[in-house]
Amino acid sequence: MSAQPKRKEQAASNVHFHDAQPGQGDVRGELLAGLQRAQKTVNPKWFYDAAGSDLFEQITRLPEYYPTRTEIGILEANRAAIAACCGSDCLLVEPGSGSSEKVRLLLDAVQPAAYVPLDISADFLRESALQLGREYPWLQVRAVCADFNQDWPFPDDLPEGRRVVFYPGSTIGNLEPAAAEAFLTRVRRLIGDDGGLLIGVDLHKSSERLSAAYNDAQGVTADFNLNVLQRLNDVLDAEFDPQAFTHRAFYNTDKRRIEMHLVSDEEQSVRCNGSAIEFERGETIHTENSYKYTVEGFAELAASAGLALRQSWLDDNRLFSVHYLEAA
Ligand code: SAH
Ligand code: AVI
Repeated sequence: MSAQPKRKEQAASNVHFHDAQPGQGDVRGELLAGLQRAQKTVNPKWFYDAAGSDLFEQITRLPEYYPTRTEIGILEANRAAIAACCGSDCLLVEPGSGSSEKVRLLLDAVQPAAYVPLDISADFLRESALQLGREYPWLQVRAVCADFNQDWPFPDDLPEGRRVVFYPGSTIGNLEPAAAEAFLTRVRRLIGDDGGLLIGVDLHKSSERLSAAYNDAQGVTADFNLNVLQRLNDVLDAEFDPQAFTHRAFYNTDKRRIEMHLVSDEEQSVRCNGSAIEFERGETIHTENSYKYTVEGFAELAASAGLALRQSWLDDNRLFSVHYLEAA
């Protein structure tokens, strides 16, 4: 497969960890460039340090956040058909695996030759992989810490097998349309002519429902959003005060995306990596988009990457969709 991982560790006999995180220098440059744009931005991948991954897990259990439980319902209700699509002895690769919770619904039925969780959140990935390896001692787990928007630096000790990519959670919605197409093109290359993609995609729906899911009453999504300032403080040696910013999330109906921002409560100058970032009162840092698709819109996007929908499963309320795709 592609480049060698930087570091390889063996944590338990069936769990290996490969560290291919980008170097700190690249990270600093990327974050600073985003903060220096006219519309200040931080790529949502920076949400996910250990604290951010924990907060995301809390989000998945919120009453307002329907995607996780709806997708789990779809996976459970259609487990046999989904497992048949994946086939047995495949190499199951999950970019953005997080807690690896959803794959547990498939493992017994699919019996993959190996499972490759790939995530940017190093400590959380390591813990999740170890826990999974303990629960499934027969499963070969090859965890890779990397950015899934770059070439996937796979371990070289993977067994042969049909490659099936599992990409649940509508994580694709956090990619801009061009990046989503590039991601699917990378998946297409990886799975070749005989593999598959099992993907969860959140659907377009009423602004009220969507807005509630990203503005929960307990304020967990606000904490998740604000945590990125702590990340900036750590990585950029910056002095952002989370108390001086407010979480804002709304559905942009024209662009069919939830936008998350951090609003500066006051005019302020924030020291950042030796220079200063200036904020007007009310100016925002754009921290995340979460695109919502129609089944047809997603099929078009997939087609542009050479992938075709073979089967689709939706919940009764048509809130969320799961699709199995192959080479077109
Ligand atoms: N698949 C899980 C988690 C989704 S949350 C689920 O369905 O519930 C999104 C996950 O993608 C997080 O674990 C986050 O750390 C990871 N992630 C986000 N951007 C990433 C990137 N660019 N490269 C690798 N992992 C990324
Ligand atoms: C991971 N991703 C699909 C989540 C989403 O819904 O876009 C991240 C998230 N942001 C706020 N709440 C959840």
